[in-house]
Amino acid sequence: MKNPYRKLMLLGAAASLAIVGGCGGGGGGADDDTPEAAAFRYRQAVMRLLAAKMGPIGAMSRGEVPTDEEVFAKNVNDLLTIAGMIPEGFGADVSNVPAASAALPEVWTSMDDFSQRAADLQMAVEGLAAAVASGGFASGQGLVQSTAGNCGACHRNYRQRDE
Ligand code: HEC
Repeated sequence: MKNPYRKLMLLGAAASLAIVGGCGGGGGGADDDTPEAAAFRYRQAVMRLLAAKMGPIGAMSRGEVPTDEEVFAKNVNDLLTIAGMIPEGFGADVSNVPAASAALPEVWTSMDDFSQRAADLQMAVEGLAAAVASGGFASGQGLVQSTAGNCGACHRNYRQRDE
């Protein structure tokens, strides 16, 4: 390259592209520092934990894995704690939701209904936990399916479908 300034300019352009890329193109990527991106990371973690707990609870309730009272009770109690953490993940402003998020804008425009659905899950899990506390797996088993129904009930209205 004959012109040293041109080379510097190209380097500069590459560097600024790298910076923009690192911040998710300025469009609120999942790895940036905005409150919206932090909220996205938080709720994704909460949702993945809910699934990690609901999976084994469901499998045991359907008899797909051997019943283990202790494991069942622990998963139900963990689920109770995690369900209570949902609302915190949807507080940040809607205007800059990261592109990677599957949350629909209706979460924020229908916040009362959305919050009610989070509360519905919480109440169902409370009922399940109470049943397990008093009568173990045998008492909780029949409540699992209806409890899990609250996950889909919220996703249907507030989460983008997979293509
Ligand atoms: C009050 C509404 C609501 C309830 C209740 C709810 N979810 Fe979600 N869930 C969402 C929304 C909205 C998203 C999309 C979040 C985003 O991408 O920003 C989501 C995303 C997810 C994801 C994808 C996470 C990822 O990897 O990006 C999983 C898995 C999930 N939910 C599982 C569950 C399970 C299991 C339950 C029930 C135990 C549940 N959810 C209950 C609203 C809800």
